[in-house]
Amino acid sequence: MALLKSDPCRRHTLATRRSNQTHIVEPKKFFIETFGCQMNLHDSEKVAGTLTQMGYVPTDDPSEADLVLLNTCNIREKANQKVFSRLGSLQKSYGTKPGAKVGLLGCMAQMEGVKIFERAPNVDLVVGSSSYSFIPELVEKLEQGSRHVIDVTQDSDRLFETYADSRGNPYKAFVTIMEGCNRFCSFCVVPYTRGRERSRPGDRVLSEIRRLASEGYPEVMLLGQTVNSWRDPAGIIPSFAGLLRQTAAVPGIRRVRFTSPHPSDFHPEIVEVMETTPQVCNQVHLPVQSGSTEVLRRMKRDYTREEYLRRVEFIQSSPCDIALSTDVIVGFPGETQEDFEETLSLLQRVGYDQIFSFKYSARPGTEAFALGDTVPEEEKGRRLAVLQEFQRKIQTQRNEQLVGRELEILVDGKSQKNASELMGRTTQNKIVNFPGSPELLGKFVRVRVSRAFPNSLAGELI
Ligand code: SAH
Ligand code: SF4
Ligand code: F3S
Repeated sequence: MALLKSDPCRRHTLATRRSNQTHIVEPKKFFIETFGCQMNLHDSEKVAGTLTQMGYVPTDDPSEADLVLLNTCNIREKANQKVFSRLGSLQKSYGTKPGAKVGLLGCMAQMEGVKIFERAPNVDLVVGSSSYSFIPELVEKLEQGSRHVIDVTQDSDRLFETYADSRGNPYKAFVTIMEGCNRFCSFCVVPYTRGRERSRPGDRVLSEIRRLASEGYPEVMLLGQTVNSWRDPAGIIPSFAGLLRQTAAVPGIRRVRFTSPHPSDFHPEIVEVMETTPQVCNQVHLPVQSGSTEVLRRMKRDYTREEYLRRVEFIQSSPCDIALSTDVIVGFPGETQEDFEETLSLLQRVGYDQIFSFKYSARPGTEAFALGDTVPEEEKGRRLAVLQEFQRKIQTQRNEQLVGRELEILVDGKSQKNASELMGRTTQNKIVNFPGSPELLGKFVRVRVSRAFPNSLAGELI
């Protein structure tokens, strides 16, 4: 994934002058590929920015990179396997530049630590998900010839340092507002890979947002694993809802999104902010995981089906027409057919605009690991397919209700369906593909929806 906007000031070849001779010194190049969630994507932006500041230049071609980095995810077993197979394919099919170094960053690096060097001795660098502020020192050690350089400390006071970042999208910027998680859901590695919950001071968050606005970003996405559990360590901004209000008030910011809120901390005040602050988008991603209270109890999710649905009720009763999305796990240990059907009935009841669904993956070190992995793989696959088909119909119906409507979108890229078209997103985070000229990139335009699909809309400029 290319993460960097091209920066003509930095992408040039460095020239140094000694007496009357000019020596052209090729700058070192880095390649970075990201696995996992938005936090990882944003971490890659921070690492890319730091390396750029050190004089490295980005490349999309790993075979020409001096530093090949994989930013890893550990959430499911498959995510782990992907990294090692990618590592193998990078070394086999591209072959790395002589003297090139390979590094693993992120959540799997954090969790596995030095064991990575045993499993993959060609890896030179391991940096955990809270140690990116140490990249300059660590890369310098590599440059000086050290092998197996590692940092997986989690409690650095440099965690929320403002990084020189290189953002992947010129119109939408991620902003970290907290790190880690204290909830310890029984299936989840995040509290181990990202450590305990730590909130970033509100004034630092806002000063980053002011900077982004002055650089021309109209949209920000506030990030945290339980983003609505954010508390200002300085005690100045009273709540997460207060932070949303202050973010929306920054001149130049026209859209504010956030992910992922935890249902237990989701209060009506957040919906009130959406109703009174047009910049705060009409979209909530509220991970449910299961529709069965009994499964939720074993997952240690801290809410029942009914408590979750009460949150949905106050979100859906808002005049703002707030889109809802969620995450679902099928095949958690002991999940019966009846439990699974409760998840289907919850999907029906809520009518989500989008879901992300996964087969349960038993993760060593988590509490649920001791429960075994009791639902056979084949049955998990069957439930996942049933769930996805069930949801596809719900989404198609939801999207069909928008046909004929006029909607405002922020045009943020080329259409992924048809390269000659553009795409943008509505306040509800619906993708609209439409014919239009590239000058519209980065602009807010109005479109009329002409067709609906399960995952996107087609429209025409008004
Ligand atoms: N903080 C978010 C979740 C982040 S992890 C929340 O509290 O909901 C993203 C998603 O990965 C989770 O919502 C869950 O659906 C899925 N996930 C996490 N651990 C998993 C596991 N062991 N097996 C399968 N899916 C998992
Ligand atoms: Fe994982 Fe639960 Fe924390 Fe979400 S709230 S990151 S699922 S432990
Ligand atoms: Fe994966 Fe880490 Fe995100 S485990 S989902 S990259 S927080």
